[in-house]
Order: sequence, then structure tokens, then C-alpha cells
Amino acid sequence: MEKNIVLIGMMGSGKTTVGRLLAQRLGRELADTDALIEQRQGRSIPDIFSQDGEEGFRALELELCRELSGRQGLVIACGGGLPMQEGAIAALKENGLVFWLDRDPGETYYGLDVSGRPLAQGGREDFLERYARRSPSYHRWADYIIPCGDGPQEAERLISTIYLEVSQS
Ligand code: S3P
Repeated sequence: MEKNIVLIGMMGSGKTTVGRLLAQRLGRELADTDALIEQRQGRSIPDIFSQDGEEGFRALELELCRELSGRQGLVIACGGGLPMQEGAIAALKENGLVFWLDRDPGETYYGLDVSGRPLAQGGREDFLERYARRSPSYHRWADYIIPCGDGPQEAERLISTIYLEVSQS
């Protein structure tokens, strides 16, 4: 059975970009949880947050994770807050290897596109605090911690690192 590759980490840590490249490289399907929720709902993430609240969004996330956990061979790029929901990340971990893309939060915030991210509206301090609050959960659920830097070769390095871990697992 081909386990799913599950990418977790803060907003802006590169899950979507790395996920897309990794899926291409491995010939796997990419499941980007935010994109799937938006597609199925026909609404943007900010609209879901403003109409249904964060709670409504988390319920959609949970439902999607339960569905994805029944599939295999996927690359799954998770929304940043997904691992705070034990039921959601536990479902993905049942059939997945979990990689935490751990990027310095100060650096991440510096280049972060906050539009379209309702939980990144509180400024830099709020972002740093959120990282500190979330880190124990990322740590708890990760099978592998992948420190991420910047620079043009970085995505390639991350993909090779993840590829190596997956092929040795
Ligand atoms: C969130 C991160 C977002 C998205 C939603 C909530 C979070 O995904 O799921 O806005 O709680 O950190 P990205 O990590 O892809 O930005």
C-alpha cells in the first residue's frame, strides 16, 4: 500500500508549492485541502470564515480528512491549522507519513501574502504567537521535521529530502 505524503506547517511555509512539485515528481495526485474545500463549497476561504466562522471551516476540514484518509498514494498539502484538530490529523496519519515544513516564522511572515488568509490578519506578533502555540502539535504529529530555508534551490532540496525519506520508509 502506498502511504499518503502529508505536508503540515504554518501558513506560508511552502506546503502548496512543495506539494505541487512533489506530486509532479512522483506522478502522484495532489490533494490541497484548502483548494478542495473552496472548490466543493464554491466559496473562498475568507467567505467561509465570514459566513460560517472558523468553526464551520474546521468542520469542512474534518469531513475532508476523513474522506482522504480512505485513499492512498496522494500528496496532501494541509491548511496550516489542520493539525490542531486531533480528529483531522489523526485520520490523515492513519494512512500517511507526516512531514512538518518548519520555517522560521519571522522570515515567513515577512513574505506572507495575508490576503485570503483570515488568520493572518493580526500582524507579525500574532503570527509569531500562533507559531509558538501550534509548534507542539506540529511536533507531535510529524513523522519527519523538515527545516526550511529560503533561496532558489530550497524547493528542490525539500523535495529531494522528502523523496529520500519516503523511499526509505
Ligand atoms: C489556516 C491556514 C490556511 C487556511 C485557513 C486557516 C490556519 O491554509 O486553511 O485560512 O489556521 O493556519 P494555509 O496554511 O495554506 O495558508
